[in-house]
Order: sequence, then structure tokens, then C-alpha cells
Amino acid sequence: MHGSQLARSFPRSIFSEMSALAHACGAINLGQGYPDFGPPPQLQDAACNAIQQGHNQYAVSHGERVLRQAIASHAARWYGQKLDPETDICVTCGASEALWCALQAVVEPGDEVIVLEPSFDVYVPDVRMVRAIPVPVVLEPPLFRLDPERLRSRLTKRTRAIIVNTPQNPTGHVFSAEELQALAQICIEHDLLAIVDEVYEHITFEPHAHIRLATLEGMSQRTITISSAAKTFAATGWKCGWALGPEPLISAIRRVHQFTTFASATPFQYAVAEGLQLPDTYFHDLRADYTARRALLLEALAETPLVVFPPEGTYYVVADISPVAPEMSGYQWCRWLAQTVGVAAIPLEVFYHDPALGRSLVRFAFCKQEETLRAAAERIVELRAVAP
Ligand SMILES: Cc1ncc(COP(=O)(O)O)c(C=O)c1O
Repeated sequence: MHGSQLARSFPRSIFSEMSALAHACGAINLGQGYPDFGPPPQLQDAACNAIQQGHNQYAVSHGERVLRQAIASHAARWYGQKLDPETDICVTCGASEALWCALQAVVEPGDEVIVLEPSFDVYVPDVRMVRAIPVPVVLEPPLFRLDPERLRSRLTKRTRAIIVNTPQNPTGHVFSAEELQALAQICIEHDLLAIVDEVYEHITFEPHAHIRLATLEGMSQRTITISSAAKTFAATGWKCGWALGPEPLISAIRRVHQFTTFASATPFQYAVAEGLQLPDTYFHDLRADYTARRALLLEALAETPLVVFPPEGTYYVVADISPVAPEMSGYQWCRWLAQTVGVAAIPLEVFYHDPALGRSLVRFAFCKQEETLRAAAERIVELRAVAP
């Protein structure tokens, strides 16, 4: 007996592979994008309190009311977006489940779904699991901006949706008002749905600011916005996410969600509800903290011959290794880096349909404590002298 053809076609996640390698060779892990620090203390207390107060059984399938209300007021506070918590929100097991449910809910087998590349490695398998066809549109370094004409050239009668991720993993690109306007125009002209992954919505660097595509004229009825607590509250293990949008689309997502996981962990929903209601200062401090971490890593990388693309948002930096390892792929170089220099990174080739497009690019994560980043920086500057 063996797994299905589809399952066998999926590679082992590069994140697991690089984390295992980092562990095996004692490398500092700037590979997988999870913080090495915890959620804010008030959220930790809120999760413990929720358990002690008896919130331990299945949650309401589409999310506890207290969390849906907090998500709606967060959307109003930051984006002026009006949502009805009764109909426009579905709470899921992380943004990942929201994305899966959204595709299952709105895409038919054989539909085409545009994926902007390099893209978070979950999108293409999710599109394939709904038996739809992923259609890549490449964003080019150094700025990774959207070329609307390139996007238009990939549209066909079968194009149903476009997956957008802003701020974007892995490139750190924050889509500008102009790019989003162009995207909105294309979606409206071609009657496309936008599925927008905004998990890094609160991690942007001056002068860049996150704009919610759903708030652009003509987009609210055709946009599913996805986010989660993972990045905003350093709580990747809580797997508490959500999908927002117009009632007909969210109602379809709720139907899929009830037969996928039914509900996400109840106590964390109470804790995240508190998190979303934290004062503005929490979100400003988060940005300031990440600005400092970004500076620390960029400073170290600037000491090396790598070509670095400073991010506008997210907690990742992309670099081109060609000047230090012209013959190597990013994958080979990342293995060498972990084993020899003692720092783990992720090769970007896995974020492209054609690995050759990202062959010389790698990604470093800076969602780490200052001492972790300083220790990594000390090793990274060795790249001045050591080459494979
Ligand atoms: C762009 C993007 N979307 C979604 C996720 C996963 O979010 P969650 O842990 O809430 O499922 C990640 C995690 O790295 C991500 O980078």
C-alpha cells in the first residue's frame, strides 16, 4: 500500500529539513519563521485563565463570539473596515487552515489560481489539493514589485482567484497603494476573487505601511482576508487564525471548516481576543522591536559580499549568494552554511515553480531575541573570509 499520487508528489517541507539540520549541527536557526520568545505575558495569563475558567471544550465552530467581536473591532480600528461578527468572520486553526478552507470553498476543480512568486510554500499544494491549477506570476528582485501587465498576460477564462500575500513572505515586500490599486482593477475587470494572506500585517518598516486590499473600492465583495495570531503575538504554536469577508464567501468557508477541523483550540481564542484589544502602543512597540532586529541582521549581512534586499515588512531578509558561491545552489549553500558557519537559512528555490528562478537566493529570519541575533551576526560576518 502507498499514499496517493498527489501526496507522493509533495516534497518534505524545507522548513522541517533545515530545522532538523540546524538542530543536528548546533546551528543558530534563522531558517524557520518562528520566534524564540513567547507571546506577551498578558496573553499567556489569559490563555491559562481561560483553561482554569472552564473554556476547555469545543469552541463554536466558526469561532467564540468574544474573538469574532475582537477581530471585527481590530479591523475597524486599523483599517476602518466594517465587519459583522455574526456573518463575516470564521476562526480557524491558523491562517493555514483559513487558506485551505478558502480555496476549498470558492474554487472548482480545473479553475486557475494565480500565485505570486516567490510564494509561501503552502499556496501551491493547497491549490493542487482542490484540483485547481496554480499559475505563477513572478515578482522580480530587487524590489519584488507586481508587474500588472505580466499578471494580465497570465489570465485566462478559467482564472478564478489570485492569492496575494502582503507583507510578503519570503521577499519582505509590502504591496504599495499603487500596486494594490492595479490588482483591484484587474480583479474587478476579470471578475476574480482575491485571497489575501495578511499574517504579517503589523510588521512593516517605515515608510512602508500595510494596506488592506479588501478596503479598496469594489473589493469588499470579492476579497477573503486571512490573518492569524502567529506573527502579531509571537504565538505560532497556538494556531489561531481567521478568514474575513462578505457573508456568502464566509458562509461557504464555515461549511468547509466545520468538516475540516470543526473548531480551533478554545482557550487560545480567549487569549487572542485580549491580544487584539491591546492598546495601539503594543502594535507600535512590535514594529519598533522588529525594526531594531532587522537593523541588527542587516548590519551583519552588510559586512559580507552577499547582495541583500532589505525588507519593507515581515521578519525575513532575502540575499543573493552569487558573489560568494557562484557555482552553488541556495540549497547546497544553506546546508554548507549550517554545517560550517553554524547558521541556518532557507533556500528560496522552494518558493518558485521553477527552482532555477530562485537558485541563488536565500532567506534569513530575524524573529529572534537580540542575543540570538548577535550570536548569529558574529558568525555571519565570518562570510567575509570563509567561502565554500
Ligand atoms: C505568509 C504566511 N501565511 C501563513 C502562515 C502560517 O500561519 P499560521 O501559523 O497562522 O497557520 C505563515 C507562517 O509562516 C506565513 O509566512
